[in-house]
Amino acid sequence: MEIKKAVIPVAGLGTRFLPATKSMPKEMLPIIDKPVIHHVVEEAIESGIDDIIFVTGRSKRSIEDYFDDSPELEMHLKAKNKDNMLKIVQDISSMVDIHYIRQKEPRGLGDAILTAEKHINDEPFAVLLGDDIIVNGTPCTKQLIDNFQKYGRSTIAVEEVPREKTGSYGIIQGKALDESLYVLEDIIEKPAPENAPSNIGAIGRYVFTPEILDCIKNTTTGVGNEIQLTDGIRLLNEQQKIYAYKFTGKRYDTGDKAEYVKAIIDFALANEDMQEQIKGHIRRFCI
Ligand code: UTP
Repeated sequence: MEIKKAVIPVAGLGTRFLPATKSMPKEMLPIIDKPVIHHVVEEAIESGIDDIIFVTGRSKRSIEDYFDDSPELEMHLKAKNKDNMLKIVQDISSMVDIHYIRQKEPRGLGDAILTAEKHINDEPFAVLLGDDIIVNGTPCTKQLIDNFQKYGRSTIAVEEVPREKTGSYGIIQGKALDESLYVLEDIIEKPAPENAPSNIGAIGRYVFTPEILDCIKNTTTGVGNEIQLTDGIRLLNEQQKIYAYKFTGKRYDTGDKAEYVKAIIDFALANEDMQEQIKGHIRRFCI
């Protein structure tokens, strides 16, 4: 079965990025000239998604504006014969079908996904967290979709994380089928390193069968008093096989300040127009 729908939750408060996120969504922070969320939407489209639902919250208006038409700006660019820029701006508003739904308050990732239930309409769907950028030729979401198509079961993206950081991830226990695929045995939300069943953590990409929604509904509030997606995944795992897939690619958690800076440096070094300047600048610190 094809996966055409994706839920992108962007309703979190982004407290790690205060005060910038007091009035702007962290998903709109730019990686040079392109907001983080633009990269995420591109990944979805390149993975075959043609219908996106953003779960938004208060002070996230600028995300809607970004993907909307901007007639005044377009008129201005036309009048100034800035055709390249005009095309870039017009392409953004015609990238894909986007729908918006509000999560009334940020009650956790599980709750955010549940908010999109009516739109999902009992079909399998992808979830892409709005603050993770993953760079790879074959997009991470496409890798998950390929696994879903092979086995017909939910597949979550995982990667090895430093032991001391297990408290920031859902950590899995799994039976390895090969070097990149596990059958999920358990997943624990943000365990301390000494309680973590492994150092393999779930990152912000998932493909789910629609049964995940009832499972989330049947969870009670968990870690941090939030409706945790991890608890929904544990319930689903009692009913259906779930796969954990060690994706290929470089991930940046742009909701984390140091990771955000690393993303900007790497994108600048990959950009022909500025790589020499940036290399020269960095060299000054490498004596
Ligand atoms: P995070 O936990 O990284 O986002 O959620 P956060 O809560 O905004 O960040 P900090 O820790 O306070 O800095 C991952 C993704 O899930 C969304 C966020 O917007 C982010 O893209 N999210 C999280 C929701 O949509 N709703 C929620 O209730 C929680």
